[in-house]
Amino acid sequence: MNETATVSFEQLAYSQAAQAFLDREPRLFINNAWTASSHDATIAVEDPSSGRIVSRVVDASDRDVDRAVAAARAAFDDGRWSGLAPMARERTMNRLADLIEAHADLFAELEAIDNGKPKGMAGAVDIPGAISQIRFMAGWASKVAGETTAPYTLPAGKVFSYTVKEPVGVCAQIVPWNFPLLMACLKIAPALAAGCTIVLKPAEQTSITALKLADLVAEAGFPAGVVNIITGNGHTAGDRMVKHPDVDKIAFTGSTEIGKLINRNATATMKRVTLELGGKSPVVVMPDVDVASVAAGAAGAIFFNSGQVCIAGSRLFAHKSIFDEVIEGVAQASAFWAPRPSLDPAGHTGPLVSREQFDRVMGYIEAGKRDGASVAVGGDAPAADGYYVNPTVLVDVNPQMSVVREEIFGPVVVAQRFEDLDEVASMANDTCFGLGAGVWTRDLATMHKLAARIKAGTVWGNCHAMIDTALPFGGYKQSGSGREQGRQGINAYLETKSVIIQL
Ligand code: NAI
Ligand code: MG
Repeated sequence: MNETATVSFEQLAYSQAAQAFLDREPRLFINNAWTASSHDATIAVEDPSSGRIVSRVVDASDRDVDRAVAAARAAFDDGRWSGLAPMARERTMNRLADLIEAHADLFAELEAIDNGKPKGMAGAVDIPGAISQIRFMAGWASKVAGETTAPYTLPAGKVFSYTVKEPVGVCAQIVPWNFPLLMACLKIAPALAAGCTIVLKPAEQTSITALKLADLVAEAGFPAGVVNIITGNGHTAGDRMVKHPDVDKIAFTGSTEIGKLINRNATATMKRVTLELGGKSPVVVMPDVDVASVAAGAAGAIFFNSGQVCIAGSRLFAHKSIFDEVIEGVAQASAFWAPRPSLDPAGHTGPLVSREQFDRVMGYIEAGKRDGASVAVGGDAPAADGYYVNPTVLVDVNPQMSVVREEIFGPVVVAQRFEDLDEVASMANDTCFGLGAGVWTRDLATMHKLAARIKAGTVWGNCHAMIDTALPFGGYKQSGSGREQGRQGINAYLETKSVIIQL
């Protein structure tokens, strides 16, 4: 509704390859074959850059879910995957990674069309991230091992005892819409390395790249039934997956609300559960920094992916001596993150994923204003058909406001002043979440003190949202349970068996 109204928000034309993929019939990927649903229900695929419906996917029925779980169950129980040589599992996974790499450009475009993120960002972040998840975990297929352990209470030589690691079984994996392919690969990679079989469900807003991934699963040479990919709504298909008696483990990334529900629903059959949930991550700026470069970093921490990031740096704490300068710097840097249609090569962010998310984010901005917050920059949406929201900085906030307490999941940061390390440590921890935190300082002692004080699964120093597959990732408090990635990531897909033999 301001100067951006003169900029065109027209989405660019799709490539022929992308259009051909979108034109496919809605199908489910079960037992390495494309199969029709048991009913006619479908879900519209919308391009959030234009608000246009560009395809449809199956809205899986209970019977569809049951078929996918049965396929995964049979594939697990006869050992067609877990019984292979680890080298064979590793090589199949690496073939899948190579195939994704060979189709990287199409994946990036489909992600841009479906999610709204810039194709350039998908190509630089999402697709390489997905590939490295698979390559890192492929190596673990041959490195999972138990140990021989001397008993403590028995004399030496009377028993022989050892532990073995075994795959947990059939895994139901439910992923969100903010990094669709990356989240899908982050989920399937450790499960496959461990020898598990899978039913994967992408989010109803962003199913397209998971379906493209399914094409490559068969081509990579996975036995039928090892990776099944179904599309559908959360409260129906997702719920069926979570409650299914033949599922052994659930891995979920999404909202804290649904994570809690899934945790409860999994209890009846004591399924193993890992949850990666919401966040309200602090970004702490100490007074000794170079303000210009740190302000750009703080802007990136919240505005990357339009703030639709579980570890988004959505609470900015700047020391009172530099607060105004930091806010000024973040406001200036926000121009770089102005939203554009996802296929526009000049854009660094796109629209939000959906009308629902747009309404939620704009609702938070309005609530913040009503509660007395001031808008330092943004606070509005460009006039366009897609779901664009301008990068927004709110000041004059207090810890009671919903914009400070709740996850907004949009390009909105709330900024507060602090006086000293003790105060900022307690402000940073004044949240039910504990996923990530960024600390910006040149002083090593301050860095280490804050890294120790802040209750979060990951603390970044002089950077934000740096993710590496070798490092465990997950949440303290209500940001989740369990860890993904790294050695801990594979452990989440393994049971430990002790064997004790009397000699
Ligand atoms: P959501 O948590 O409802 O959806 C995430 C996934 O869970 C989707 O695949 C969905 O189909 C599935 N799901 C939904 N209800 C389910 C159920 N009853 N049983 C099993 N699976 C179910 O998230 P939504 O509604 O898309 O977004 C709402 C808010 O959640 C966002 O505004 C954001 O705050 C947060 N969120 C956090 C994410 C993260 O990365 N931590 C990712 C997506 C959303
Ligand atoms: Mg939901």
